[in-house]
Amino acid sequence: MSSLVFPRDFVWGVATSSFQIEGATTEGGRGASIWDTFCATPGKIIDGTDGTVVCDHYHRYKEDVAIMADLGLDAYRFSIAWPRVQPAGSGAWNEEGFKFYENLLDELDAKGLKAHVTLYHWDLPQALQDLGGWGNRETAYRFAEYAAEVGRRFGNRVASIATHNEPWCTAYLGNFHGRFAPGFTDIALANQVSHHLLLSHGLGIKALRELGISAQLGIVLNQSDADPATDSAADKRQAQLEYENFTGWFMDPIFKGHYPPLALEVYGDAAPKVEPGDFEIIGQKIDFLGVNYYFRAWCSTQNPPIEPPRALGITDMGWEIYPKGLTDLLVRINREYPNLPPILITENGMANPDRVEDGAVHDPQRSQFLQQHLSALKDAMDQGVDVRGYFEWSLLDNFEWDSGLSKRFGIVHVDYDTQKRTLKDSAHWYREFVSQQKRGN
Ligand code: NOJ
Repeated sequence: MSSLVFPRDFVWGVATSSFQIEGATTEGGRGASIWDTFCATPGKIIDGTDGTVVCDHYHRYKEDVAIMADLGLDAYRFSIAWPRVQPAGSGAWNEEGFKFYENLLDELDAKGLKAHVTLYHWDLPQALQDLGGWGNRETAYRFAEYAAEVGRRFGNRVASIATHNEPWCTAYLGNFHGRFAPGFTDIALANQVSHHLLLSHGLGIKALRELGISAQLGIVLNQSDADPATDSAADKRQAQLEYENFTGWFMDPIFKGHYPPLALEVYGDAAPKVEPGDFEIIGQKIDFLGVNYYFRAWCSTQNPPIEPPRALGITDMGWEIYPKGLTDLLVRINREYPNLPPILITENGMANPDRVEDGAVHDPQRSQFLQQHLSALKDAMDQGVDVRGYFEWSLLDNFEWDSGLSKRFGIVHVDYDTQKRTLKDSAHWYREFVSQQKRGN
């Protein structure tokens, strides 16, 4: 089915996150998160849905783990809901919350799947938001305490721990564009939030490292290369700025010890306030970099702007399908950051308006998308980029943030009325692809 051959020990998995699949938001002693509050605010979620039930994974995790085992996967990337294990974001730990994740880990162990844990996939305890959230520097210290507690409990039984998932979204979609919780529209605040997220990453890694645990430690960033629409100096500068605002904004502090110069200059007075020693904390050595790739950035300064060619079409999110952007991105960061650790592709996938027909879901677009992106990934590896694994986003259709339940990213279809799971054609395709890789082709 494919002539692609990946290394024998390459890790094949799928990814999810707590708020997007768990449901049970008021069960087991879980505290409120900023996403509960945001969903309850009229007009914030396109279809008016919320996280109270979603995929009901909290009660159905065994079935979901069984599906992953049936697909022949090596690994599962999921996140821990901070308000489930520490309802107020500081102080008391919630044993029932930890028990849920312990049960999940037991189930994964029993089925031979390795766990890749993310500590923060956007569900901040509301109690911390009430104290200023990520705009308050103290939150970074609370995060490090939470990280250390998870490390103490699970650090020797999970394959990896990532501090954050896509901090760009937390900072900018949440505090500048107002599309994500907590819903603010203040660029100086968003910049300060991004700095505190980076600080909390460094503090978290430091605390975890001191525990001497076996889990690999890292962070997951959403990244894209930026292409200028033309060769004009203005488009090229725009593309550089776009790269620095998105990918470089987190990569440079972690791997170079400073913010990218052009972006910093353009932010001017809105630039984040940095305290002495912050970059030393942020630049903690990490064992892996998680890269989430969905699309490239396209930069045109003309009016009206030149549109990207979109030769391979767009997804149900309206995102351009551009696999080559994954190769370009990986080759670029590999060149620009000589101290880069091994990479895991922690997310890649597409939304599609899938429907169940006679017990099946035909989504050839998604299988093709995966095939194209795996091929682009292999190109980057052939050019010397050290990539160790790939996690498809997502195992299940789930709560797509401000799009609610209206966008389906799963390779497994979820009927939200009955909670029935149906493997889509792309799930069968992925199983066959992975099995072929394991047979050595
Ligand atoms: C990235 C995020 O980590 C995930 O939560 C989201 O559902 C996917 N992208 C798709 O937008």
